[in-house]
Amino acid sequence: MEIEHKNQNNNNFEDIMDLFEIDYVYENRPIKRTFDKSNLENKQSLLEKLKKKILNISDCELKKNSNQMVFGDGDSSSPIMIIGEGPGQKEDEMGKPFVGDAGVLLNRMLEAINIKRPKVYITNVVNYRPPNNRKPETSEINRYSVFLREHISIINPKILILMGGTAMEALYGQTLKISKERGIWKELIVNQKTYLTILTFHPAYLLRQPDQKKYSWVDLKMIKKKIDELKIKI
Ligand code: URA
Repeated sequence: MEIEHKNQNNNNFEDIMDLFEIDYVYENRPIKRTFDKSNLENKQSLLEKLKKKILNISDCELKKNSNQMVFGDGDSSSPIMIIGEGPGQKEDEMGKPFVGDAGVLLNRMLEAINIKRPKVYITNVVNYRPPNNRKPETSEINRYSVFLREHISIINPKILILMGGTAMEALYGQTLKISKERGIWKELIVNQKTYLTILTFHPAYLLRQPDQKKYSWVDLKMIKKKIDELKIKI
């Protein structure tokens, strides 16, 4: 005689849910109950690996002409990641992004929305200073955008702030105009994950065109509002 094995759990599950009128939401995400120190350690080791890759880059005009690599600065566990263009003279000397005049303005912009600079994570599209501070060429932007994408995946921010046309080109392509695209929340997919992103003017541009600061202020207020709406702790 053949015995019919019924998986009672599976057969009755939906009926029981119907009976109790429960809308069951299936989620694959694991529930995070504790602070996992190993995540942080893993992040640091991934950042070190990425640093090595950028240090080992060869046949690069930027690397050849600069003093050192400028990788990133700030809190790698920050929910906010800021991306600029590339190191200038001061950054090349100090090995840190945004430490010159544009950096001073960036710090003030962050303070205006109650964010202390060490609380965010900052990097650039290219990690070596372009000769004479020229804009990185499209081929250089494309080459470094592979590292940048990896950098974003490792930091895994809740909000990504792209400052200026080079950051926009690296992640959205060449065809957009920053003056049209700034101040709009967008989605950016990097390595299969979607990041909430906003484009805004680069602080160095604002130093040259102070009358544009009013638009930058609009963008900063949008960022602050989003941080509050999403209850992001920073
Ligand atoms: N401009 C940038 O884009 N990045 C820096 O680090 C400094 C100036």
